[in-house]
Amino acid sequence: MKSSANKIICLCVSILMGIAAISLFVNGRAAEAADVDNCLCHSNKTIKPFIHIPVKNGDCLSCHKPSGQNHPRFKKEAFSLTDKGKAGLCNECHERKDTKKHIHPPVASGDCQDCHDPHQSNNKFQLKGAGASLCYNCHEKSKLDRAFPHKPIAEGKCLSCHDPHQSDQKYLLKFAGADLCTTCHDKAKFAGKSVHAPVATGDCAACHAPHGTQLHHLLKHLVPDGMYQSFNKSNFELCFSCHVNTLADSEQTDTETNFRNGMFNLHYVHVNKAEKGRSCKICHDPHAAGQPHLISSKIAGFGRWRIPIRYTNTNVGGTCVVGCHKQKSYDRINPIENP
Ligand code: HEC
Ligand code: HEC
Ligand code: HEC
Ligand code: HEC
Ligand code: HEC
Ligand code: HEC
Ligand code: HEC
Ligand code: HEC
Ligand code: HEC
Repeated sequence: MKSSANKIICLCVSILMGIAAISLFVNGRAAEAADVDNCLCHSNKTIKPFIHIPVKNGDCLSCHKPSGQNHPRFKKEAFSLTDKGKAGLCNECHERKDTKKHIHPPVASGDCQDCHDPHQSNNKFQLKGAGASLCYNCHEKSKLDRAFPHKPIAEGKCLSCHDPHQSDQKYLLKFAGADLCTTCHDKAKFAGKSVHAPVATGDCAACHAPHGTQLHHLLKHLVPDGMYQSFNKSNFELCFSCHVNTLADSEQTDTETNFRNGMFNLHYVHVNKAEKGRSCKICHDPHAAGQPHLISSKIAGFGRWRIPIRYTNTNVGGTCVVGCHKQKSYDRINPIENP
């Protein structure tokens, strides 16, 4: 009796031990998977200088969710990735990157991995390329190469103007209009008693191409650098892309310009010369000026000397004193004699 009872107990114990052993085995597998030490076959996932925090922390299973299959016997099938590793996975821990008006197409399609490695990289933010080279994986570099590149482009700093994910501004720009430009350029240059209309509306791109152009100063159309040149309209192509190109054509006019003494066209007098015609820039600042009609306060002189011009206007004309010369005036209604 005793021995048969013992046998039953033995049997029970061995069954229990068997169950315990099986459950230990199963739990052991889970425990093994949960323990990053056992992902050590993949220790190559944490060798680069920039490692994603959950990867660094050994939190592999926060992304690779165990499916219950035996790993390593089963490989891929043993784990699943939310949203197959696309944005849905990233969004489990990160704020969504597709909530603004304009979304970069690879972000909109959820392809975060086009730019980020989920584990590690040689670049900050686990990026798959440094600086502009990341962008050139998809954008043609040749399309951004210019004879006169804007300095931040030449330095590969695309992100000083563009957000890589999304923006409320067109073209993924970080700021709208002139605010973008004045993050680097002095705002004071674009303010004054008279401000050029396209500058006042923040339309810097009316004259400048932000990436650069084939012309100096990022200009879309030509205005030569020199203060004097022959009066050739193609020299002032930029100004004449918006203004009537006849303002300096004829000696006499009462319609083409207000810069005249009676009918005598003072634009013609100053500008329209076969050789030393004056450039518009000698009088006008293309952005803004402390005097009316964009008249600069100083103009280029000899060497480094800048000649002051003092300009005042009336409803029908104006007065101008250049350096130490005597003042000159013009009046459209009652022309001044010997102006
Ligand atoms: C932030 C989420 C995330 C974490 C954390 C993570 N992974 Fe991954 N892992 C991924 C994604 C996404 C893929 C798919 C990559 C692809 O499609 O090329 C992947 C793929 C893999 C692969 C197969 C492809 C390859 O790159 O070799 C292995 C192995 C792997 N991960 C191991 C690990 C290990 C080990 C850890 C922990 C040290 C880890 N992962 C942590 C997201 C993650
Ligand atoms: C399990 C949570 C988790 C998931 C899923 C996850 N991340 Fe992260 N990620 C973090 C944590 C934690 C940090 C560090 C804290 C922070 O910067 O928010 C981080 C940081 C980052 C950083 C900044 C790194 C740095 O150097 O500051 C990037 C980029 C990033 N993750 C991209 C991704 C991408 C892309 C995915 C999807 C493939 C993803 N993450 C999925 C948790 C996660
Ligand atoms: C076109 C390339 C590109 C794509 C696609 C992309 N990123 Fe980024 N991401 C970047 C760059 C570049 C930075 C570095 C930004 C910086 O230097 O200010 C960055 C930074 C980050 C950061 C850290 C700084 C921050 O803004 O929070 C996180 C997190 C991040 N990305 C997550 C994601 C997620 C999630 C996705 C997919 C929804 C994604 N990224 C898609 C290029 C990309
Ligand atoms: C994975 C591919 C990919 C990468 C990497 C990439 N882009 Fe794009 N980007 C696109 C696609 C696709 C478009 C839409 C078609 C186009 O305009 O070329 C686009 C469009 C743009 C636009 C125009 C958006 C609009 O509203 O018209 C800008 C600006 C831009 N990308 C900047 C960048 C910058 C800056 C980088 C580097 C940080 C970068 N891209 C990296 C794929 C990419
Ligand atoms: C100084 C600011 C600035 C920098 C730096 C900059 N961009 Fe732009 N980008 C702009 C502006 C402004 C636009 C809007 C289009 C326009 O006005 O010509 C634009 C438009 C774009 C577009 C869409 C239109 C097009 O021309 O195809 C792409 C793509 C683009 N940029 C990529 C880049 C890349 C790549 C870099 C880095 C090599 C870069 N940008 C650097 C200001 C900048
Ligand atoms: C990230 C900073 C940055 C931003 C934003 C920026 N610029 Fe620039 N820009 C520079 C630097 C740096 C130079 C070179 C300055 C120098 O050489 O004195 C420069 C030079 C210029 C030049 C003179 C080029 C020449 O050869 O004389 C023009 C014109 C210009 N920028 C216009 C713009 C316009 C328009 C915008 C807005 C669309 C803008 N910039 C936005 C940094 C910036
Ligand atoms: C009507 C055309 C026009 C508009 C609009 C315009 N610019 Fe210019 N910009 C010029 C011309 C012409 C030059 C060359 C000036 C020179 O040679 O003295 C220039 C030169 C520059 C320079 C380099 C020389 C300097 O003065 O430092 C910068 C920077 C610049 N512009 C920025 C801007 C910004 C920012 C805006 C918008 C707020 C803007 N420009 C709007 C015509 C324009
Ligand atoms: C993108 C168009 C555009 C370009 C390019 C342009 N202007 Fe203007 N300009 C305007 C507008 C608009 C006004 C205001 C309306 C008007 O007087 O025609 C204006 C006004 C002026 C005025 C009168 C300002 C006042 O306060 O009375 C002068 C002077 C002037 N521009 C000179 C120039 C010069 C010089 C150039 C070439 C460097 C030039 N503009 C290029 C659009 C432009
Ligand atoms: C000698 C100085 C001087 C030069 C050089 C000059 N301007 Fe003017 N401009 C003026 C004055 C002064 C006015 C203001 C006239 C008034 O309203 O009383 C003016 C007015 C203008 C106006 C406003 C409309 C008008 O004609 O009254 C435009 C546009 C203009 N200039 C463009 C130009 C362009 C383009 C050039 C170069 C081809 C140029 N200016 C060269 C002095 C000059």
